[in-house]
Amino acid sequence: MCGIIGFTGNIEAKEVLLQGLTALEYRGYDSAGISFFPENGSDHKVQTIKTVGKVSNLIDKVSSLSAGPSFCGIGHTRWATHGGVSETNCHPHHFGRVTLIHNGIIENYKELQEELEGEGKYPVSQTDSEIAAMVIDSCYKNNPLKAIKRAVKKLQGAYAFCIMFDEYPESIYAIRNGSPLVATNTKEGSIIASDMVALIKYSKDYFVLPEHHIAHLTKDSITITDLEHNEVEPDMLHVSWDMAAARKGGYEYFMLKEIHEQPEALHNTIAPRIKNQLPDFTTDGIPDSLFNGLNRIIITACGTAMHAGLIGKNMIEQLTRVPVTVDIASEFRYQDPILDANTLVITISQSGETADTLAALRLAKENGARTLSVVNVKGSSIARESDYVLYTHAGPEIAVASTKAYTVQLAAMYLVAFRFALVKGSVSQDVIRNYIRELEAVPEFVKTMLGCDRAIQPISQKLLKTESLFFIGRGLDHALSCEGSIKLKEISYIHSEAYAAGELKHGTISLITDNVPVIALATQEKVFAKMISNIREVRSRGAMVIMIANEDAQVDAALCDHLITLPPIDNAFAPFGAAVVLQYIAYYTAVARGLNVDQPRNLAKSVTVE
Ligand code: G6P
Repeated sequence: MCGIIGFTGNIEAKEVLLQGLTALEYRGYDSAGISFFPENGSDHKVQTIKTVGKVSNLIDKVSSLSAGPSFCGIGHTRWATHGGVSETNCHPHHFGRVTLIHNGIIENYKELQEELEGEGKYPVSQTDSEIAAMVIDSCYKNNPLKAIKRAVKKLQGAYAFCIMFDEYPESIYAIRNGSPLVATNTKEGSIIASDMVALIKYSKDYFVLPEHHIAHLTKDSITITDLEHNEVEPDMLHVSWDMAAARKGGYEYFMLKEIHEQPEALHNTIAPRIKNQLPDFTTDGIPDSLFNGLNRIIITACGTAMHAGLIGKNMIEQLTRVPVTVDIASEFRYQDPILDANTLVITISQSGETADTLAALRLAKENGARTLSVVNVKGSSIARESDYVLYTHAGPEIAVASTKAYTVQLAAMYLVAFRFALVKGSVSQDVIRNYIRELEAVPEFVKTMLGCDRAIQPISQKLLKTESLFFIGRGLDHALSCEGSIKLKEISYIHSEAYAAGELKHGTISLITDNVPVIALATQEKVFAKMISNIREVRSRGAMVIMIANEDAQVDAALCDHLITLPPIDNAFAPFGAAVVLQYIAYYTAVARGLNVDQPRNLAKSVTVE
C-alpha cells in the first residue's frame, strides 16, 4: 500500500525513482510524485513534480518539464487514505526545510495538527503525511537524526518515511514503524524502497530496515542507528529471483504471467520439503515440537490468503482430528480469541506485511500461543515476528489479484497438515506417502489445467454483461468458491457471491432467475450427488450453469450450459486445478470488459493499514 523509493548516488536519480515507481505501482496508483535536489542546486531548493493518475502520467510530466540532472531524490505512488485523490494530497510533502514521503497512517494527526495550528503553522493538504512533515520540521534545528528521533516520539500509527532536509542535498533519511522498507548500497549509490521489486535492478542483496532505526543514505554508504544513536549492522538477505521475474515477459498482464508461473512456483515450494517421500521441515528450522500437544489451531489471514486457510483447515482436521478455526485477521483481534500455549496460530500472507494479519500475530504471541507463518516475502514483518516461518517460493507477485501465491499457500498448508499428522501419528506413514505422491504431481496437474484457457474465453464473453452471479460448492469446493468469487469481483467489478450449495435454498435462491450465471464446483465425490441436486435446483429456476467437475464424473449434458473438466486426481488436490479455472474466468472476463487487470480500482496489493 503506497510505494515509496529514495535514491542518492552517481546516476540520474529521476530515472531511478521513476523506474522504481513503475515497479512499485501495484502498491497504489491514484497519484504519484517525486522530489529531487538539482545538481549544484546553490540555494538547496528541492524540486517537486506531482500528478494524479498513473506513474506514466508522472513520467510524461517529468520529461515535459526537462528538469536538469539530479543525483538524490525520493518518490511515491499513492493509495489514498487521508484526503482524496488530488495533486495537493499527492506525496512528496514539503514543509519548512523538510520533504517527505510516507506509507502508513498517522493516527494522532488531528491533535498534532491542532498543536501546529496553535503555533501558526497550517497544512495545505488534507493528509496525515503532511502533518508528519510539519512535526519533523518543527523538531529540526540542524541535526536530521535528532529531529527524526524527537518527531517519532510524537507520532502514533504506522509509518515508513523517506525524508530529505534542505541543508543535506545528498542525503536521504528513513525510519519505519510497521510499514516495510528495504535498502541496499551498490556501485550506483544507495537505494531504499517499500519492496525488492524496486531494488532488483541494482542488487539481489538487501536488508530490511529494522523498525525504529534511522537509515542515513549517502551515495557511498547506508548508516543505521537506533534511537539512542548507536550504530547497528543490518542483517543482509538475498533473493533468488531476478529482473525477469519483475517484468511482464511478453504477457499482456502480470496476472496472466503469474497464473502461468504456478507449476514452477508449486514445484519450488513443494520439492525442498520432501525427504524419503515424507514431509520434512528441517531446512525451514521448524521443529516437530511445534506440533506436540496441540489441542487447537487458528488460521488467520486476509483476502485470498484467508481462503487458502479455509482449504488448509479441511486437510489438517481430516488428518489430525485437531479442531481448526479460520478467522479473518481484521476481526480476530476484536473478538477476544481464546489462546494458550497449546494453540498454534498460523498466519498466511503473501506480502508478510498485511497490517491486520500482523496485528493478529502479535496478539497471538502476547497471549502465549505458538505461531507459524506461511509467507512469500523473505524478511517481511510477519515472517520475522513469527516463531517459525514456512516460506512459499512463488517469486514476486505483482498483479493485485493473487494467483500463484494462493496455490503455493495451499501447498504449504497441505505440507503442514502432513507433517503434523506424521508427528501426531494420527495416520500411517503410508497414508502420508500417498498424499505426498499426489502433492508432487500437483505442478504437472496445474500445468495441464493451464491449457483450459480456450474453453474459458467463450464463457467469459457470455459473462461480459452480467451484473451478478453465484459460485456454489460443497466442502472444499465451497472454500474454493470463496476464492473464485473474490477474484472475479476484484478485477471484473461484477458482483458475485460464494455460497455453500446446500444453503442456497434457505434464502438466496430467490435471486436465481432466468440466465443468472451460476458457477458450480462439483469436484468432491462424497458430496457429488448432493451437489447435482443443488445444480438441478438452480437450473430449474433458469440459471445459466457453468460446471466444473472431474473428467470421470457422470454429468448429464442437460444439467449445465458449459462443462469444464479436471483430469483425474485425488479429490483433496482438485482445488489446485479448479483454482486455475476460476482464475481464468476472472481474468478473461475482466479483459473482455476492457479493464486494467493488474491494477483494479480502489485496491492495493499490500495492505499496510488496519
Ligand atoms: C489485499 C490483496 C489481496 C490479498 C490480501 C492479503 O487485499 O488485494 O489479493 O489476498 O491483501 O494479502 P497478503 O499479502 O497478506 O497475502
